[in-house]
Order: sequence, then structure tokens, then C-alpha cells
Amino acid sequence: MARKPMMAGNWKMNNTVGEAVVLTQEISNQYEKEWPESVEIVICPPYVDLKPAKTVLDFDKTKIAVGAQNVYWESKGAYTGEISVPMIKEIGCACSIVGHSERRELFGETNEDVNRKVKALVEGGLYAIVCVGESLAVRDEGTTDEYVTAQVRAAFAGVDASDAAGCVVAYEPIWAIGTGRTATPEQAEAVCAAIRATLAELFGGEAAEEMRVLYGGSMNPGNVEGLLAQPNIDGGLIGGASLKCESFVQLIEACL
Ligand code: PGA
Repeated sequence: MARKPMMAGNWKMNNTVGEAVVLTQEISNQYEKEWPESVEIVICPPYVDLKPAKTVLDFDKTKIAVGAQNVYWESKGAYTGEISVPMIKEIGCACSIVGHSERRELFGETNEDVNRKVKALVEGGLYAIVCVGESLAVRDEGTTDEYVTAQVRAAFAGVDASDAAGCVVAYEPIWAIGTGRTATPEQAEAVCAAIRATLAELFGGEAAEEMRVLYGGSMNPGNVEGLLAQPNIDGGLIGGASLKCESFVQLIEACL
């Protein structure tokens, strides 16, 4: 199992261009050339910050990638307010987050939408960070594994193994996002293992062994070690703790 851990920062709707340049520069100033040997790093700022952040990272010759937080599946046309895969690709994005629970809950994104977005990304040569995760009600019902693995199946419907292999799944229990209430390493591992088993069913064991499964939901420097020690957790999708250089760098260093 030679999966390289990933630390992905999801800035959500935070940081103006000016603030984004400052934070990206702070992270870049801490950058160590050895990092990419042990960890893949992605930051996902708001759309307007992508190009400025990418410019800072490239100027400093870092191997930190940028990704979008969302993307539309059509490549162009009369879709007011949407942003396409070719647009984020030209900026130099490596990937986009899709199906974040905030998009599903606040913006009505469905499993079908998520699937269209995954397909558009892989067809465009980018990879998807596919978010899945259950609400507290689903967890209390005891149907977490079924719920989450159904989200995984839906997200990857019609995607072939070679395209899926580059993608990442982020398990983010909704009750742990931004709440300070992290899943225990054992709880997170159990669901991440179920996700990997589903990926193996869909794409075969080899592809499933290559694919990274991240945990997200109040991951921070205090709880990262226990989570990363789990065999099926390959890194984190980080919200709050990615908005401060110090904590994001600590999370990166936890992967070294
Ligand atoms: P959090 O967010 O780390 O602030 O809980 C994670 C996420 O929503 O991706």
C-alpha cells in the first residue's frame, strides 16, 4: 500500500483576494522541498482567489496544488453564475471538491449532480475530491455505512476504473463539520474501510488500493495523529484549521 497522504484545505467562503494572497504566501514561506515526497498538498480557495493563489505558489516553485470547491458539469453556455471545468483547468487547478455536505444541504445538490460533476472533471483531465457523509440522524439510525456507500456508488456511476483511480473520496460526517466534534479514529476508520470496500467492488482491488480516502470534520493538530494512524485514512479535508498558516502547516507536518 503506497498511498501518499493528502492534506487538502477547504477555505469555504473565506478570504478576499488580498487575504488569500497573504495566507498563501505565509504557507509558501513555510514550504519545505521535502514535503512532496511524503504528502500531497492542495488548497481550495474561493474561485476569485484561485488565480492569485496559484500565482503565488508557482512563483515560489512550490508543489502545492490548487483546487476549486465546486464546478459545473457543462463546459460553457447560458448557465449564469456557474464555473466550468475548462475554466478552472486553464487557471491551473488540479481538481475540484464535489458534493460537499454544505452544497448538498444548502444548495440542493443531489447525488446525480455530484455524478455529473465527477464525470466532467475526469473527462477534462482533473480529479474530483468527492465528499460523502451522514447526518447525525442517519448515524443514530445505525445506517451510516449503507448511506455513505450509496453516495459513493452514485458519485462514481458510469466512471471507469482508470478515471476513478485518480480521484479522492473525503468522508465527512456532517455532525463533525465545523462543530469541534470529531469522529473518533475508530468511527472514522470503520466508515473509510467501508468506502474502500465499495471502491474495490466498483473498480477492483487494485484501483481501490490506489485511491485516497480522506477524513474531514474538525480535523486539527490535536487529533490528526490518531486519525492518520488508521489504515484506511489517507489524509484530511480541512476546513477551519486550513485558514491559519500555523495549523495547516502542522497538519502537513503530521504526514511527514
Ligand atoms: P472543518 O470543515 O474542518 O471546519 O470541520 C471540514 C470541511 O467541511 O471540509
